[in-house]
Amino acid sequence: MEYFELISARYSVRAYKSDAVEEEKLQQVLNAVRLESGQIELDLKPVDLVSLVNEAVSESETQFQAKEQTLELKLSPGLPPAFCDEDWTKQILTNLLNNAGKFTPEGGRILIAARHRPDAGVIEVAVSDTGRGIPESGLKEVFEKFRRVDDGKGAVRGTGLGLAIVKHIINAHGGRVWAESVVGKGSTFTFSLPA
Ligand SMILES: Nc1ncnc2c1ncn2[C@@H]1O[C@H](COP(=O)(O)OP(=O)(O)OP(=O)(O)O)[C@@H](O)[C@H]1O
Ligand SMILES: [Mg+2]
Repeated sequence: MEYFELISARYSVRAYKSDAVEEEKLQQVLNAVRLESGQIELDLKPVDLVSLVNEAVSESETQFQAKEQTLELKLSPGLPPAFCDEDWTKQILTNLLNNAGKFTPEGGRILIAARHRPDAGVIEVAVSDTGRGIPESGLKEVFEKFRRVDDGKGAVRGTGLGLAIVKHIINAHGGRVWAESVVGKGSTFTFSLPA
């Protein structure tokens, strides 16, 4: 291949990659605006979370592979369907998985667990990682838009909208979402949906 062809091939790969990132960011901003202005209607129906988790995982796989992170699923057998909006719930999973991969070092572990809580009439889904963690003071703040926790270890790319969107969507379902973490050990984000 001629030198200039090589350069242009490399350039277009880069351009393509950054376009995809920009496109994703733009979608994230649009989603946040739509959610905030109350312009979304949830399409509520029984949804099989096992398939939805598997779909979200397979779409995030290249991100985990790039950092040689392992992913484990612990979905209790006989999980009933959740009563939720399928597309938005997948967006929640995608945002949490993206954070887990992004804020966890190479070789780390990510776990998705789901269980039915018949007493509370909900399914709880937890995404855990072995990443940098979040200080106690940041555990609520991270759900505010544009809020990013600075741990002094250098910036990781992001807009600070992912978790604000997660919270909006969960609230719209009447569910709950919260974070637990130990700095330097990892974080767990858990959300509940009616079941
Ligand atoms: N799994 C995690 N481990 C450690 N810190 C996290 C984790 N998830 C979120 N955070 C912290 O919470 C902040 C807000 O997360 P959020 O997903 O809203 O934004 P972002 O990932 O920075 O940007 P965006 O999601 O818009 O690309 C992050 O910047 C980071 O400081
Ligand atoms: Mg994020």
